[in-house]
Amino acid sequence: MPIGRHQVKSKSTVAYVLQCHSETNIYLPITEILSKRTFSNMIQKNKKLYIKPDQGRKSRGIIRVERADSNSYLLRTSNEVNQQEFNHLTPLWSEIRRLTSGRRYIVQQEINSMTKDSRYFDLRCHALRVHGEWIVGGICARVGAAGNIVTTSHIGGTPTPLETLFTQLLDYNEEEQTQVIKRLHDCTLQAVKVVSPIYPRNWEFAVDVGLDQDKQVWIYEVNNEPLIRGNFNLLPDKTLYKRIKFLREIAK
Ligand SMILES: Nc1ncnc2c1ncn2[C@@H]1O[C@H](COP(=O)(O)OP(=O)(O)O)[C@@H](O)[C@H]1O
Ligand SMILES: [Mg+2]
Repeated sequence: MPIGRHQVKSKSTVAYVLQCHSETNIYLPITEILSKRTFSNMIQKNKKLYIKPDQGRKSRGIIRVERADSNSYLLRTSNEVNQQEFNHLTPLWSEIRRLTSGRRYIVQQEINSMTKDSRYFDLRCHALRVHGEWIVGGICARVGAAGNIVTTSHIGGTPTPLETLFTQLLDYNEEEQTQVIKRLHDCTLQAVKVVSPIYPRNWEFAVDVGLDQDKQVWIYEVNNEPLIRGNFNLLPDKTLYKRIKFLREIAK
């Protein structure tokens, strides 16, 4: 494979670019490079935060921190079921530093993207450039296992058709579904439009998107080498998987 296809993925670089454009900064949760200062500021302003490795993938190394009502702090990681509790910011920060030392991380406001039975979900929005134009190849939902902080199928999540999410897990009516699909398309296409110049050899991206209780969509990250086996291929209906495979043949 030519060297050019392997490019460094950097969540902070992508977030910076999304932040700089008015078409995309409306979709970006508050995002900073993790430091003691940015973390302390953000946990005062937001009750719930996600901490993610800058070059991470497949939900590895994700940390969720919550400021609980009793003013204690709860910490969970993507690979453990147990939750740790801290009564002060100092030991909490020591633990975060231990978990994150030696690598760059970002810290991001949590989006309350939850089904009505309180499972986290997100949306995998796959975009390809066909005949010089970016199009959405397919969107699927990923629903996390109960109690998990991430949604990937490697960690118990279930790829789910969009219709199932909307009708069975969120109770959206038809008008709400149409409105959200329109927002997802706009968010995906605007994101790839501003991010693709950093990866000029790429003709394919996938945007991971959260959807909150007000039906606003939020970009978690933009993947520059998206796989479809662990998501679209696990849907009961293979139409979108086949469509993306076909579009890959003609995308450039
Ligand atoms: N800001 C956030 N709010 C809520 N959940 C998040 C947030 N960021 C990430 N997640 C959850 O963590 C998962 C992994 O985060 P993501 O940014 O996609 O990194 P990765 O490169 O590991 O896929 C997402 O699919 C989502 O389930
Ligand atoms: Mg992701």
